[in-house]
Amino acid sequence: MTKTQLYQGLAAQLRELLAEEHDLIANAANLSALLYHSLPELNWAGFYFLRGGALVLGPFQGKPACTRIVLGKGVCGTAAASRKTVLVENVHEFPGHIACDGASNSEIVLPILKDDQVVGVLDFDSPRLGRFDAEDRAGLESLVRGFIERTDITTP
Ligand code: SME
Repeated sequence: MTKTQLYQGLAAQLRELLAEEHDLIANAANLSALLYHSLPELNWAGFYFLRGGALVLGPFQGKPACTRIVLGKGVCGTAAASRKTVLVENVHEFPGHIACDGASNSEIVLPILKDDQVVGVLDFDSPRLGRFDAEDRAGLESLVRGFIERTDITTP
């Protein structure tokens, strides 16, 4: 199966998962579970939501993680502050990378935007260097758009 086929299949599964449910926590929990169990070579997948100027841990799959990340810090804080996806081939070369799980070697973080405002990020870690590429970025950005369209996003 190509990556394009993989992401097309995931988009269809996500549409089904979110068809009847619009709650933020429920949908974030199911999206992180779907992706953690469907994408190969991940050791962590999940959300941080912006609360009072910090990113606070949300629904995720993987080992317990850092609970708070300051905006602008780490890969997550950089994605939130820049409102752009950050793809890191080698986390050990990323200045300020926050190591929640020592097994992580590469990472991709996508901002969750509502009305052009950052409400959180979706973070993926992999033990393999260079695990994420442009196809993952495009596929994941498309899944995030589907998630935002079908979810009631209220900033706490
Ligand atoms: N590595 C992230 C921290 C979150 S964990 O990977 C789950 C960062 O540098 O922001």
